[in-house]
Amino acid sequence: MSNQGFVVWFTGLSGSGKSTLAEALAPALRERGLNVEILDGDVVRTNLSKGLGFSKEDRDTNIRRIGFVAGLLARNGVGVITAAISPYKDIRDESRAMVESDGAVFVEVHAAATVEQCEARDVKGLYAKARAGEIKGFTGIDDPYEEPPNPEVRCETGLDAPDISLQQIIDHLESQGLINGGRS
Ligand code: ADX
Repeated sequence: MSNQGFVVWFTGLSGSGKSTLAEALAPALRERGLNVEILDGDVVRTNLSKGLGFSKEDRDTNIRRIGFVAGLLARNGVGVITAAISPYKDIRDESRAMVESDGAVFVEVHAAATVEQCEARDVKGLYAKARAGEIKGFTGIDDPYEEPPNPEVRCETGLDAPDISLQQIIDHLESQGLINGGRS
């Protein structure tokens, strides 16, 4: 029998720590014997979503594609990790419905760093460009981000170190019987 597939769906602002947590979570799941795939917004936009921009329509298309592929993988027992801003609640909910209709479990994780916290770090220098008007429609600056009202896990990524957030996610997955306890 194959594993119960699931999708850990990170949502949060650019620079909120989604990709960092995704990269840390993947080996922790593999260590427990799972097949794992990461669908990262920045990576998906170089292939599956190449050519899409950041209008609402293009973001929705990008997120629907990620949700669709996540569902395909998860229904085959894969532990899928997605890491895209996914700013709109309705499209996240649509992805949840698609994944659940495939018989997989959807775990929404909010990387809840604030705009101020992300901007203070500005790892990619994009907030500075957005403030200078060089990038228009930047999420959290002059484009919306709809916070998830009821995520399965909320990580205070603007305050907590990544290992704290990672443990929160692992604890949740264990509590739901999606993974076994790790090596001790
Ligand atoms: S989403 O809105 O469609 O979910 P996605 O996660 O794929 O976004 O891509 C976000 C990344 O694209 C950001 O981390 C940033 O590096 C880059 N980016 C470029 N332009 C924008 C923009 N206008 N708003 C947000 N992110 C942008």
